[in-house]
Parts: sequence; structure tokens; C-alpha cells
Amino acid sequence: TSTSEPIRLEDHIRDIPDFPQKGVLFKDITPLLQDAKAFHAALDRIAAHYAGAGIEAVVGVESRGFIIGAPLAYLLNCGFVPVRKFGKLPAETSSVEYALEYGTNVVEVHTDAIKPGQRVLVVDDLLATGGTVLAAIELVERLGGHIAGISFLVELGFLKGRERLEGRDVFALIKY
Ligand code: PRP
Ligand code: MG
Repeated sequence: TSTSEPIRLEDHIRDIPDFPQKGVLFKDITPLLQDAKAFHAALDRIAAHYAGAGIEAVVGVESRGFIIGAPLAYLLNCGFVPVRKFGKLPAETSSVEYALEYGTNVVEVHTDAIKPGQRVLVVDDLLATGGTVLAAIELVERLGGHIAGISFLVELGFLKGRERLEGRDVFALIKY
């Protein structure tokens, strides 16, 4: 029956032309998130990829990385660590500035959130230029964490973020 066919995740990603600016084709993951079966399948597939990898913490990047990271931490039975935009975390933080298409942004993590040698999975919804995830990686490694994996729902291959992550274990469910 049709209900037993594997879910095609790419069927749940919507193209929005000219967002956030003219000439950009935005990959909108909200249809995937709002479909129970697709969301469940996406998380199960990422969790399955890291089964047995000894992941001890999932780091998610605010804000869309939280949507993926928190349920993934639950599935992997480990803790969740938020990397947040500047000024949101209350305790002692470590921060890093990274380049956006126009200008820069600062993200932070609590300095006691990662323990030296801890095996960390960094997750975000989407890999574009790689600037955001590299900032998160920098924070984790500064605290002595070991990057055991880097995972995305969507990879925009033509922006070559993967090249900036060379030598690291990068896993993306959907590639464009
Ligand atoms: C988007 C997306 C990734 C990042 C990818 O986040 O969620 O985090 O851009 O781009 P990059 O690989 O070129 O860094 P955005 O900064 O738009 O914020 P949001 O998650 O709060 O929506
Ligand atoms: Mg983001």
C-alpha cells in the first residue's frame, strides 16, 4: 500500500522565490516540520546515522537548529546544548563572530556546557556557506569538545559549505 512507501523528504521542502531578497530561491522546511510522518522520518534517519557513534551532546544553533537539535538529543538519549545569538545566555559565555552575506553576527555558548573530550554532534537545519556551523564548531572546540559529527536536514551544495568542513564527518539528508 502507499502508506508503506518510504517518505520522500524532498517532497516536503518548499521553494520560495526571491526570499529573503530578489534572486534567492529559499528552501522552506516548514512543510516538512508540520507533517508528522516527514518530521518523524527525518529525525529517525539522522538518529540512525549516529546510532553507536557515542554522541554525548547535541549542539544546535539558534534558531532553526533548535527545532532539529532538541528532538535529536532526545532520540540519541543525550543532552542538548544551545548555541545562541548574542546576549541571550545568562551565565558565563564564550562568543564568536562570523560573516553573514551582509555584515556579521555573534553566537555564544555557556562555557560550562561542553566538557573536555565530550563527543559532540553539531546540528542545524541547513548548510549554506557554512559560516554558521563553523562558528558553532569553533565554540565547541574552544571548550575542548570533540566534533563527532555535523548534521543538516538540507545542504545547498552549490554554496560549497562542505568544502569549508573538509576532513570532518558531514551528513545531510537532502542535497541540492
Ligand atoms: C540560516 C540557517 C542556518 C544558516 C545557514 O540561519 O538556519 O543556520 O542560515 O547559512 P550559512 O551556512 O551560510 O551560515 P539564519 O541565520 O537565517 O537564522 P535562523 O536559524 O534564526 O532562522
Ligand atoms: Mg539558522
